[in-house]
Amino acid sequence: MPHQLEFAYIGVEVSDPVALGDMLTDVVGLLHGEVATDGSPTYRNDDRCRRVFVQEGPRDDCSVLGFEATSDEAFEKVAARLETAGFALTEGDKDLSVARGVSRLAYAKSPWRPRFELVQGLARDGEPFHSPLMKGGFQTGGVGAGHVAIAVTSFEDSERFLVDGLGMVQSDWIETEIMDGIELEVRFYHCNSRHHSIALAKLPFDLGKSLHHFQVETNERDDVGFAFDRAWAAGFGLANGLGLHDNEGAFSFYATSPAGFLIEVGYGTKKVYEPWDGNRKYDRISRWGHQPIPRP
Ligand SMILES: [Fe+2]
Repeated sequence: MPHQLEFAYIGVEVSDPVALGDMLTDVVGLLHGEVATDGSPTYRNDDRCRRVFVQEGPRDDCSVLGFEATSDEAFEKVAARLETAGFALTEGDKDLSVARGVSRLAYAKSPWRPRFELVQGLARDGEPFHSPLMKGGFQTGGVGAGHVAIAVTSFEDSERFLVDGLGMVQSDWIETEIMDGIELEVRFYHCNSRHHSIALAKLPFDLGKSLHHFQVETNERDDVGFAFDRAWAAGFGLANGLGLHDNEGAFSFYATSPAGFLIEVGYGTKKVYEPWDGNRKYDRISRWGHQPIPRP
């Protein structure tokens, strides 16, 4: 599907980078990426050098979301749309581009907490991606690193940023009651054939954190099960056990990271097409499963 953007990378600031890094490699099956210029570790789930930046700090939250433009023309178009929507970009300096491993970078303050970065030329590793744990590898070609779900209180501004600014299209949405009298509304947006690169969860009040979860998608269904077994054996909290999402059709589970946000490992997310005619309301998160799993 012709497209202008792919989710390039996520940066997180966590109080225990070693514990999160161990989870990313030993449970999720990511590989170490090139060490960032400030000495902090990065991780990758394909042939790109850096897909996850992990910095030490007290936030235990996402600090930056990077999206890669697929061409010079796409970069300019996205930049122009963002400016028209009231989110003008600032050109990044050479140091920041080197730190991210990109040839061009501009950034904007987003309506949520993590900074938005528009980049081009995300560096490729000379070595093909072969994870000893994730035998089938991750699905990233033409669809980016995975997806994120962000909790927002400023929903209208956030949607304007994604739709008017980035040119994303709403895939569908969920309205459901998660507890007695507590409604949850989540809206899903795509910028290529991945069902969503970003989901916005509407919150009536500020929880003080933005990142609900970061998802990676496996090429093989069994790799989700093997990752679930590793998370179980390592004693990680399983916020949601194995289940099938109703709207996106993904088979997945969610493990609680040492930083508090969740990591989702999924398979089989539906693809969207153009023009998209599947934008409708769903009234449940999961067709089956995804129950929280109590740990002893
Ligand atoms: Fe997800």
